Amino acid sequence: MRQKIAAGNWKMNGTRASLPELFAIAGDQHENAEVIICPPFSLLHEALTGVQGTHCKIGAQNCFADPSGAFTGEVSADMVADIGATHVILGHSERRELFGESSELVANKARAAHAAHLVAIICVGETLDDRRAGRAEEIVQEQLHYSLPEGCNGENTIIAYEPVWAIGTGEVPTNEEIAQMHAHIRKLIPDAENMRVLYGGSVKPSNALEIFSIENVDGGLVGGASLKAKDFLPIIDAAAKAS
Ligand code: PGA
Repeated sequence: MRQKIAAGNWKMNGTRASLPELFAIAGDQHENAEVIICPPFSLLHEALTGVQGTHCKIGAQNCFADPSGAFTGEVSADMVADIGATHVILGHSERRELFGESSELVANKARAAHAAHLVAIICVGETLDDRRAGRAEEIVQEQLHYSLPEGCNGENTIIAYEPVWAIGTGEVPTNEEIAQMHAHIRKLIPDAENMRVLYGGSVKPSNALEIFSIENVDGGLVGGASLKAKDFLPIIDAAAKAS
């Protein structure tokens, strides 16, 4: 049985004034769902201190592939692990699109994350043009092929399928489209029995239970609706119920 996950990606949102929201989320203990919040780097330390004694896990949203050196502005996987975070999001479509990250770079980052004993949350997903051209499955297959380094398993890797056109838009694929893509991904990943595959893109309290109940969907990676406890707590509930 794969435990369902409710993961929050805060992106470049939140200052210390937002920490009470994070702690309200962390304080809600759920046996049946794994909860991971990924705040910006600037909040990692205080987030980790504040969630001690809860089941909530804290992750970063990125790391660099090299362990140290002249890489101004970058943070290594070892540094993320050193501060106590357990997870790191890699290859989010915003990183791929806005910062030109290739799947090869994502694989190098994931390799570094694994070496630092971090769980890599590796994101894949097609654009609207890809989907309209009937190439969604092919694009995701290619991203998986090049973004997952050797040695990925259900312990050290989580996949997040996030169709780019559904992120922050309020648009969600149909249940059939999600089911089809998740079945496709399940066939392509190593340790498929154990590796969790999340759906991401406009997950909200009103659609979470339905989406998390789809076969091969092991929970969600949530952006906007993870920022406020009033939105994210029902999503955690949905992950627990869908388990
Ligand atoms: P969204 O973002 O939930 O705001 O659509 C999801 C993501 O980018 O991970």
